[in-house]
Amino acid sequence: MKDMTHSADAATVEEALAADNHQGVVDSEGATALAMQNTLLTPRFYTTDFDEMDAIDVSPVREDWDLLIAQMKADPNKGHFKKNEDWDHIDWDTMEPKLKREFIDFLVSSCTAEFSGCVLYKEMKRRGNNEDIVTLFQLMARDEARHAGFINDALREAGIAVNLGFLTQKKKYTYFRPKFIYYATYLSEKIGYARYITIYRHLEQNPELRFHPIFKWFKEWCNDEFSHGEAFALLMKTDPKLTESWQNKLWIKFFLTAVYSTMYVRDHQRPAFHAALGVDPDWYAHEVFTKTSEISKQVFPITLDIDHPRWQKGLEALQRANVDLADAKTSGNVIKRITGTARAAMAFVSLFTIPAVKHQVPRSTRLEPAY
Ligand SMILES: [Fe+2]
Ligand SMILES: [Fe+2]
Repeated sequence: MKDMTHSADAATVEEALAADNHQGVVDSEGATALAMQNTLLTPRFYTTDFDEMDAIDVSPVREDWDLLIAQMKADPNKGHFKKNEDWDHIDWDTMEPKLKREFIDFLVSSCTAEFSGCVLYKEMKRRGNNEDIVTLFQLMARDEARHAGFINDALREAGIAVNLGFLTQKKKYTYFRPKFIYYATYLSEKIGYARYITIYRHLEQNPELRFHPIFKWFKEWCNDEFSHGEAFALLMKTDPKLTESWQNKLWIKFFLTAVYSTMYVRDHQRPAFHAALGVDPDWYAHEVFTKTSEISKQVFPITLDIDHPRWQKGLEALQRANVDLADAKTSGNVIKRITGTARAAMAFVSLFTIPAVKHQVPRSTRLEPAY
């Protein structure tokens, strides 16, 4: 994995970040600067070996492939990502400041993640010659552009917008080999589905807690993410080595651990946001991991043992280390920074070494959204 650094306008970004520190995101420049951040916890932009991906032959999964592409071409969510009479007015000025800060942080981070998918998929479409691959990536880029645009629309009402054009040109691109793109993107699509549907179902039961209309859009939205995940499951199915060799099983375990623990730590940074939704972040994490694990059995021969006694303990240790690390960065305390890094690494190793649960993977990956 190597970083491909595009020439960032460091002065502008540094200024925006400095202005933004501790006050939350207050304007478009601050929102864009937040989206520009590349830490272990913030969404990244990816690039890969597009020629290798273009060479994929989907004939081993042709039947399922054609069904999925036909379904995506039918575009059931064509008119969904538009504000209509269900879009209630929100008075951003009277929103409790801590909630407002965390909610904007959530929207900016979600918008960046959606747009990250759009940029990667569009690039594959632009570079490819393989009709199957080009068609799929074009359809996925279409969806992600809608998702990112819709979040930006919601942010605009708070007087904020992420400058997506600026991000495309200036955000750092991280190189992942195609197989790492499959593992990471498959998981991010499926965990995205599980996150959106869990919040949607919870608010369906507790509509009085729906403090913003965007949550009403999550059901159809998560179906797009589900389909994208299906596409990556099929891509992995074209080459059994990707999920069957022992080295790749270790990589799968690594990506599962990294994606789950990142989500846990990131969500625990937004206590006011989760309190407003009436969601306990520990309950939410376990629920999302359970759904994602169940889905990922379609293609991964292992799942993480999220009921193991060391699992929750490890997540909490990682979370505490992360809080101390953030404090150490602010205060410039070098010793605290070193011990925080060591504690975070140890917690991650403890999570990673929990024995995985093995599964028999079914011949066909085909699944329907079931939650
Ligand atoms: Fe999306
Ligand atoms: Fe997606």
